[in-house]
Amino acid sequence: MVSSWGFAVETAGDGQEALDKLSSNQINVLVTDLMMPRMDGFELLKRITSQGSYPPAIVLTAFGNIETAIQTMHDLGAFWFLEKPIQPSALRLLLERAASQSRLAEETERLQRQLTYQGVLVDLVGASPQMQQVFSLIRQVAPSKAAVLIAGESGTGKELVARAIHHLSPRRGGPFVAINCAAMPETLMESELFGHEKGAFTGAVERRAGCFELSQHGTLLLDELAEMPVGTQAKLLRVLEDSRVRRLGGKSEIAVDVRIIASTNKVLEEALAKGELREDLFYRLNVFRIDLPPLRTRIGDLPVLVSSLITLLNRKHGCRVTEAEPNVIEILQRHNWPGNVRELRNILERAVIIAGEGTITTHHLPHDFGAPAGSRVPVPVNEPDTVRLPVGTTVGEAEKALIMLTLKHTKNNKSRAAEILGISLKTLFNKLKEYGAQEAAMEA
Ligand SMILES: Nc1ncnc2c1ncn2[C@@H]1O[C@H](COP(=O)(O)OP(=O)(O)OP(=O)(O)O)[C@@H](O)[C@H]1O
Ligand SMILES: [Mg+2]
Repeated sequence: MVSSWGFAVETAGDGQEALDKLSSNQINVLVTDLMMPRMDGFELLKRITSQGSYPPAIVLTAFGNIETAIQTMHDLGAFWFLEKPIQPSALRLLLERAASQSRLAEETERLQRQLTYQGVLVDLVGASPQMQQVFSLIRQVAPSKAAVLIAGESGTGKELVARAIHHLSPRRGGPFVAINCAAMPETLMESELFGHEKGAFTGAVERRAGCFELSQHGTLLLDELAEMPVGTQAKLLRVLEDSRVRRLGGKSEIAVDVRIIASTNKVLEEALAKGELREDLFYRLNVFRIDLPPLRTRIGDLPVLVSSLITLLNRKHGCRVTEAEPNVIEILQRHNWPGNVRELRNILERAVIIAGEGTITTHHLPHDFGAPAGSRVPVPVNEPDTVRLPVGTTVGEAEKALIMLTLKHTKNNKSRAAEILGISLKTLFNKLKEYGAQEAAMEA
């Protein structure tokens, strides 16, 4: 009957045979019974969903029970269900809808891939070979439920990668929850992760769901994993193994279906050696690892990053900046970027706001940006009442920095400052007038 509607049909006698055929044929829509010998429909759907991308499935059931129907649709991600005996017209309509969804998914995949070659994956930008490799890893791991460990310096885009994985996975319709594991005492951290019952500890005035429950059928990002208390890491490992959580003070366990992504800006091997990260947890998560390269090692990405960030920041601030001038790009490419893409974004955010429209010129960069280290204005360091004078500082700059700091120290008492500096009050006034004029000239 289905072939007579113009579909090419493959048949299978049971779940096992279907699984074999699915792996060797290009299948766009699956129609399956629930009760079958060897492998039933529940198991079949569970197997194919765990393999990542799968065709929409129409489930046939003899038990027109709304609960089973909801369970199959919700837990197994079925496209739709039909009660037996089936009505041919209903099946035909569903098959056509499912087939068109399948075609759309393929088209999206093709477009995604094309964009990737142009250096864009979801919100990530990068045309360098290193980033292309990262994109390919993301695309490979996204469709599965595998845990992912993302390592990279601060500002390299770890959170963006986690969001891209979620977005490209079959869980994209589910929640994406991020929890920062740094700076939280153990009890609070565990209550955040696993939830608690009323009265579980002092301050637990109400029952509260944890992040695992909140990310049900979605993705949970454990940010700064190496900062998580080691005791909590052990509990986390147990949840990863069993897919069940127990709220603090709770009696029963709750089954959770959550994809875990962990990130850290520490060098993993060091965190392991120092005992900050449990080895067993590390090995459980390290199955799939993505190392994000620092910006300074892929400086060729800078031009594409600049133009995509300008677009983003224009939208955010209602500006109409078109591009950065070539000499600005040159200056930016010479910088070392210890804060990586976040630092670049901050510099550009300031520039876009100041420029408002037109092009970004060197005037829109912080005034000491990109200058050789020596010619930068000396800055007060952490010890108060100290100025740092790197080699290359001019006498004039050093003098100004010392005068300003001394004034700050005397709470702007000029005669006192002149006394400390060993100069006359008149000289101090002249200097200040000079600096004032410099500043006015700079602003003009
Ligand atoms: N490849 C990229 N393409 C576009 N934007 C990026 C990229 N990488 C990072 N960014 C931007 O840089 C900023 C920092 O990224 P993100 O928050 O993902 O960094 P992170 O690695 O999680 O940093 P931290 O360790 O400090 O939390 C974000 O504003 C993001 O938009
Ligand atoms: Mg982050």
